[in-house]
Amino acid sequence: MAERIILEEKANKTIYREGNLIIKEHVPSHPKENVFNEAYIHACIEACGLPIPKIISVTPSNGGWALTMEYVEGKTLEQLLREDPSRAEEYLGKLVDIQLEIGSHRVTRLRNTRYKMEEVIKKLTDIDASTRYELLQRLHGMANHTKLCHGDLVPSNIIIREDGSYCVLDWAHATSGNAGAEAAITYMRFSLEHPEYADMYLHIFCEKADMAIQYVQKWMPIVAAAQLSKHKESEKDLLMKWISVAEYQ
Ligand SMILES: Nc1ncnc2c1ncn2[C@@H]1O[C@H](COP(=O)(O)OP(=O)(O)O)[C@@H](O)[C@H]1O
Ligand SMILES: [Mg+2]
Repeated sequence: MAERIILEEKANKTIYREGNLIIKEHVPSHPKENVFNEAYIHACIEACGLPIPKIISVTPSNGGWALTMEYVEGKTLEQLLREDPSRAEEYLGKLVDIQLEIGSHRVTRLRNTRYKMEEVIKKLTDIDASTRYELLQRLHGMANHTKLCHGDLVPSNIIIREDGSYCVLDWAHATSGNAGAEAAITYMRFSLEHPEYADMYLHIFCEKADMAIQYVQKWMPIVAAAQLSKHKESEKDLLMKWISVAEYQ
């Protein structure tokens, strides 16, 4: 049997490699339905033909639940960016190309982005009722599209193989919805974790997608509110700033 190597240890999960397998083991408190839901979404995306690692099983593990999938050899775009920041424009261009390729698919079995965000915003206790109302009004004013959205397309979720081909990981948040919302999420994640790349990303996305920056900006208070539900203290100030814009527009 292949040796089990820890790749990443986070508060709610540990990621192991075991030969040509990856095991994503969640802590016991992580809801069972979330793990099965991730496996279900993953299987739906596999069926649409996008390059993603095949999911193999969901098994009980150390009191929690673990997802097992194929190991993909290569480097994440995050590693590549770290190793050579001078190639940021090329790497972000690659991320956008992948995002547009994903958005060209339709996966009818997935939840709609608008309904998912509506549910999250309605339950938010960190903001007052009037701000929630403004956000929901804004959300309802958005067109309802059915493009495949990854929901967390950041450099650490894309593996580039030696031959230049790619593979997309981490589909737990995928929905069917609008490219503007998808871009706003990636822009938000860059702003929170790698602010030096946020504007470069937005610029490249809007140019390649032929989309007005204002359209992505319209989604920003909404995606910030959805992110607020994760209760990460370090993110709160920036997210509240983004959300407050909704009250004045
Ligand atoms: N199938 C895989 N093949 C190779 N590496 C992987 C695979 N799945 C995950 N990883 C590595 O583990 C990291 C975290 O996995 P991910 O599924 O993105 O979990 P998280 O929800 O913690 O972001 C990835 O950024 C990647 O480096
Ligand atoms: Mg990830």
